[in-house]
Formats: sequence, structure tokens, C-alpha cells
Amino acid sequence: MASLFMVSCKLFLFIILSFSFNQFFFVTSTEYEVGGDHGWVVPKPKDDQMYNQWASKNRFIVNDTIQFKYKKDSVLVVTKEEYDKCHSAHPLFFSNNNDSVYILDRPGLFYFISGVAGHCQRGQKMVIKVLEPANPPQSAANDNTTTTNKSGPVDQMPPISSPLIVSFMVSFFAVLFL
Ligand SMILES: *[C@@H]1O[C@H](CO)[C@@H](O)[C@H](O)[C@H]1NC(C)=O
Ligand SMILES: *[C@@H]1O[C@H](CO)[C@@H](O)[C@H](O)[C@H]1NC(C)=O
Ligand SMILES: *[C@@H]1O[C@H](CO)[C@@H](O)[C@H](O)[C@H]1NC(C)=O
Ligand SMILES: *[C@@H]1O[C@H](CO)[C@@H](O)[C@H](O)[C@H]1NC(C)=O
Repeated sequence: MASLFMVSCKLFLFIILSFSFNQFFFVTSTEYEVGGDHGWVVPKPKDDQMYNQWASKNRFIVNDTIQFKYKKDSVLVVTKEEYDKCHSAHPLFFSNNNDSVYILDRPGLFYFISGVAGHCQRGQKMVIKVLEPANPPQSAANDNTTTTNKSGPVDQMPPISSPLIVSFMVSFFAVLFL
């Protein structure tokens, strides 16, 4: 009788712990500060890829925010063509108030450049890739591009959600040692 009670308790705790870890990992959006301590500046000549290197080290998800800190400069969100040309007549977003926060409000690519003449050419630009949500909406149903045959390279492993595994492991051990 007592052991059945214990089992129920542990099960209950297991559920609570899993739930709280999932909340922690999945629901919080992250604020990133572009360039860390340097902020948004013209990189040094040998470092002209610093922003894209920084961006590729992070995994951005929808609703994460990125903060730009700078002086006498500006932040523009532009199209890929304008990014490549380092020039935009009609940016999708413009800010020059020293401290800009931009919400990555959709999956896909975002192109950032400095609006100050010459800065973008010297590497003050960045592409950010925002990951697709884990369970995308039902748009795949009428996507007939998925009907391609499997003659190509071996299919990739399905991505495994590591936070989920971590949360599972932690909960599991927590229950064991209660
Ligand atoms: C992002 O935020 C908006 C507004 O707060 C919300 O409606 C939307 O569901 C969020 N998207 C995701 C993927 O969290
Ligand atoms: C922000 O920029 C203004 C000029 O546009 C300047 O006067 C102010 O000192 C700047 N603030 C910071 C915190 O750098
Ligand atoms: C997908 O289907 C639409 C019509 O349903 C067709 O016009 C289009 O060519 C198809 N695309 C591919 C890649 O098969
Ligand atoms: C698979 O696709 C290739 C081209 O991508 C095509 O030549 C081949 O006939 C297709 N095979 C089948 C079984 O549809």
C-alpha cells in the first residue's frame, strides 16, 4: 500500500519536473547582444567576418531578440540583394538610436547592415538564420515538393531534440534518487 503511494508520488514528481524543464527550455525566448562587448561596430580588417561567425555559433528561434549597441551608427534590415550590395534605399527596418532591439519574428534569414557609408563594405553586416519551429503548422500537407524520389544520398537522421532528452534524463535521475 505504502509503496503504491510512493510510486504515485514519484510519477507525479516526474511529470512536474518534465513539465518545468520543458517550460524552461522551450518557452523562454533569448535576447542576444550582437558582437558581445564590442557591440555593433566596424570590425577590424582581419576580423571582417566576425558578425557572421558570431551568428553561426548561435541557434536562433522565432521570437528571440537581438540587441545592437553602437554609437553614431545605424542598423538596417534589408533584402539579400541589398545586403550583397551593401546598400538599401528602402530598408525593411531602420534604427539609429544607439540601442536597437530587433525581434526575430519568423523563421528564415534576416540580413542586417550598417547604414553608415563604407561600414557594411568593411564587414559591419550579418546574416541571421532563424530555425523553423519544432512542429511547423499544417502547410506541409499541400506541399508537393516532398514527393521527390529517394534516389539521392542517404536520408539524414531525423533531428533529435536534445533539450527534451536532457529534461527526460534529469527527471529520471531526480526520481531515482528521491
Ligand atoms: C511569437 O510572439 C508572438 C507575439 O507575442 C506570438 O503570437 C507567437 O505565437 C510567438 N511565436 C512563437 C513561435 O513563439
Ligand atoms: C546616443 O546618441 C546620441 C546622439 O544621437 C548621443 O548624444 C548619446 O550620448 C548616445 N547615447 C549613448 C548611450 O551612447
Ligand atoms: C505542385 O502542384 C501544383 C498544382 O497543384 C503545380 O502547379 C506545381 O507545378 C507542383 N509543383 C511541383 C514541384 O510538383
Ligand atoms: C527519380 O528522380 C530522377 C531525377 O531526379 C529520375 O530520373 C528518376 O526517373 C526518378 N525515379 C523514379 C522512380 O521516379
